[in-house]
Amino acid sequence: MVVSELERIVSKIDIENDPPADEPERQYYFIARAKAMIGDSKPTACIKTFGCQMNARDSEKLTGILKCVGYEILPEEDEETADFIIYNTCTVRENANLKVYGRLGKLGHIKKSRPQMMIAMCGCMMQEPEVVDKIRKSYGFVDIIFGTHNIFELPELLAKRLEEKACVYDIWEGTDKIVEELPSERKFSFKSGVNIMFGCNNFCSYCIVPYVRGRERSRKPEDIIEEIRNLADDGVKEVMLLGQNVNSYGKGLDEPVSFAELLRKVAEVDGIERIRFMTSHPKDLSDELIKAMAELPKVCDHLHLPLQSGSSRVLKEMNRHYTKEGYMELVDKLRTAIPEIALTTDIIVGFPGETEEDFLETMDVVNRVEYDSAFTFIYSKRTGTPAAKMEDQIPEDVIKDRFDRLLALVQEKATVKNKALEGRTLPVLVESINPQDPGLVSGRLENNSMVHFPGDATLIGSIVEVKLSEAKGFYYIGDRV
Ligand code: SAH
Ligand code: SF4
Ligand code: F3S
Repeated sequence: MVVSELERIVSKIDIENDPPADEPERQYYFIARAKAMIGDSKPTACIKTFGCQMNARDSEKLTGILKCVGYEILPEEDEETADFIIYNTCTVRENANLKVYGRLGKLGHIKKSRPQMMIAMCGCMMQEPEVVDKIRKSYGFVDIIFGTHNIFELPELLAKRLEEKACVYDIWEGTDKIVEELPSERKFSFKSGVNIMFGCNNFCSYCIVPYVRGRERSRKPEDIIEEIRNLADDGVKEVMLLGQNVNSYGKGLDEPVSFAELLRKVAEVDGIERIRFMTSHPKDLSDELIKAMAELPKVCDHLHLPLQSGSSRVLKEMNRHYTKEGYMELVDKLRTAIPEIALTTDIIVGFPGETEEDFLETMDVVNRVEYDSAFTFIYSKRTGTPAAKMEDQIPEDVIKDRFDRLLALVQEKATVKNKALEGRTLPVLVESINPQDPGLVSGRLENNSMVHFPGDATLIGSIVEVKLSEAKGFYYIGDRV
């Protein structure tokens, strides 16, 4: 739902009545209550997002809610001047948490001189009880804390905080609920993330996501298609279907639907020109999906296929349910069906017990697959996960050395891949004016690489043919043809 539509609904609500029990009507009611509290004061809000696409999409929903309440939304850089600041946090690796505490300390100082300022914390870190304890103890100035399962409750929590002036904490341990029909305000007018499922059931042994995002729940295909139709009507050309493991989409629904079937339905929506999705787990990548990707021209020739490790022994310890050979077979199948496909990946270095031989298996996969790009991560011990209790955690200097070698190989391969498209003319979806050079615009190829070329703001949101004149390692300089 777009903000203006909800604003119409909210304007008719009588806040003298009791709040309705059903969602989302209950939250519409609290939007009206919060709106009445802030009156004409036109406060500002800033939402600072950490972590993955899921959080980015959640932040768009938080933005939609706050706009409806009457907040003016400031860019992320302006957090220190805003009246209301929300940190939407990530806890996938420890340094994500450390960043949040660092910033929070700074905000605490600012709040001393501006006591009216309100601070809310939400997202994945808040699903960890030790984190919430720490915030309540050491950062008592935080006004509102909520979790990943109840972001839709922001209006109710905000109204409560505004009316009672006391801190509000509400974190759910889990949920089977999916609340539809809340407003969201997109960051880009021409592209949007669309949640197709929430949570994760895979319990990879290093990963905290299943603990903080709960069990896998798929949205109904009709709700997803309705959202995408509305987005298309609103000018969106590209959708990114989001889930921790989109390949297992639809399994728990009353009428099960496969992800490949969903893709075919999405491709039928007029106005949508590009379809992407994240993330695919190799263990569930079906032939049916590869066929759908090959047959549907709107589905981008790009797949993010996290490897994590190239060693079958380590993959077993990681609870990934595939082997090095199985992964390589998938790559072959993909390249046979879609010869131009760009492959990207995630790799973890230094998983407990990783030997030099294991690491060389990872290097071997990178060498053979020749990824277009790869995110490389140093293993981070997450309390509560099985891997945190494994013996033989790898010393830092060994990890650092392996990480540097991996990164060098990833970059070498990516540069070769990047060079291979030089001279070609390909469609680019224009995203913005180039921040460094206002004479240029920046956009993305189907394979997700950035291209910068001469142009102006009128091109933003359109797909144009661009000749890739010069490959620059990770991006291209081009010319419109
Ligand atoms: N659901 C997605 C990934 C979500 S987390 C998938 O299965 O691919 C994004 C990436 O963070 C993962 O792919 C993994 O490479 C990395 N990651 C997750 N937990 C980690 C940890 N404890 N230490 C280091 N990297 C981790
Ligand atoms: Fe984490 Fe594995 Fe689930 Fe991805 S599939 S979110 S890595 S547990
Ligand atoms: Fe981080 Fe939560 Fe995403 S832990 S990676 S923001 S699902």
